[in-house]
Amino acid sequence: MSIELKALGPAAFAGLFVVGATIGISNLVAGTTAGAPTVKSVVAPTQAQLAKEIITGQNYFASSCSGCHGSDGDGEGDAPSLRDEDMSDSDIADTIRMGSGRMPPFGQIYNAQHIHELVLYIRTLK
Ligand code: HEC
Repeated sequence: MSIELKALGPAAFAGLFVVGATIGISNLVAGTTAGAPTVKSVVAPTQAQLAKEIITGQNYFASSCSGCHGSDGDGEGDAPSLRDEDMSDSDIADTIRMGSGRMPPFGQIYNAQHIHELVLYIRTLK
């Protein structure tokens, strides 16, 4: 890691500064344990990256999920509400990948990154 940072030079230090400023928010959204910015935190997604992933997930949700789960995952369709979902991230990801009951599997349509973005979006539903 230190080698990579050295190679990046000034850009890495600028990045550190930005991450340091946004670390509280990105930790909150990512659901990771809050703490002092460490080298590991440098590779955590920035707020902007995270926002982009959530918006991408929202687009996937609108095209593939809202017909059954409602436009904001409120369960207005024929499927359960996904608001305040108490399943773990990995259980949600497995459900999307493999389907469940009357829900079709999406593992052929969405790769791991797409599913990660869907999970991030579902986590914003309150
Ligand atoms: C054809 C309708 C349909 C579509 C499309 C659909 N679902 Fe579902 N989903 C269901 C039904 C019905 C269930 C209830 C589970 C069961 O029947 O076993 C469910 C369950 C779930 C659950 C588990 C909820 C819980 O608390 O048990 C998650 C998470 C979920 N769906 C996410 C998604 C996502 C994300 C998408 C889009 C990629 C999606 N679903 C698309 C019908 C659908």
